[in-house]
Amino acid sequence: MWEHFFKTEKKLLNPYIEKLNEYPGFICYETDKLKSRKGSWNRHFIKNSPLHVEIGSGNGNHAVRQAEIHKNINYIACELRFKRLVVSAKKSEKRKLTNVQFIRMYAQELESVFGVNEIDRLYIYFPEPWDDESHEKREKKRVLSATIIESYKKILKTDGEIWFKTDHDGYFEDIKRAFENRGDFEMLEIEYDFQTPFSEQTEFEQLFLKKGIKIKRMILKKRG
Ligand SMILES: C[S@@+](CC[C@H](N)C(=O)[O-])C[C@H]1O[C@@H](n2cnc3c(N)ncnc32)[C@H](O)[C@@H]1O
Repeated sequence: MWEHFFKTEKKLLNPYIEKLNEYPGFICYETDKLKSRKGSWNRHFIKNSPLHVEIGSGNGNHAVRQAEIHKNINYIACELRFKRLVVSAKKSEKRKLTNVQFIRMYAQELESVFGVNEIDRLYIYFPEPWDDESHEKREKKRVLSATIIESYKKILKTDGEIWFKTDHDGYFEDIKRAFENRGDFEMLEIEYDFQTPFSEQTEFEQLFLKKGIKIKRMILKKRG
């Protein structure tokens, strides 16, 4: 199974890799399977509903709570870390959710598994800012960057939205500037001290709130 993720076998294999298979209804990680769903994600849910995708979903707190509250929305959460995926799937299984799925892949490759205009909303909450990297590397590693917006634009519907939250002032300003330089997204909301309702708080957000760090949030809409 490690072949899906690494070129060579590692001496110490992450035990959560095998556990991915314990949640076939919730976790998808095989590239071929993911690609085969391109443009038809709704067929893999019980209901045909608007599609919300979360990038870097961590332990799944936000996706799971939202799926519990909004049964008429289908959620797909993209995450890299095996344990976080397993934890998220376990929570979803316990709650018997049928409108949330987790995919293991790099956000930078989302275009290969989602069709043009397939997604209604993207959530990108507290992504790593990659502060210590050079500008070039930072652009590649950030899951929201000036470079990657073009790719997200393709898979978002017209009027589709990007919801972005961060604790990081510099990252927030970079993204604000990137959208201002484009003009193909309308800034619907921008807040520098956002009071997130509990049901929408992520795990990292709760840590930042405890430290008294202000949450920055923006909502952007893709223009027609
Ligand atoms: C700082 S954590 C925030 C997690 C969650 N959004 C929260 O607020 O609690 C960032 C998450 O993004 C994931 N991540 C980092 N780079 C990624 C990438 N290229 N594609 C998908 N997920 C990524 C990490 O594994 C990590 O779980």
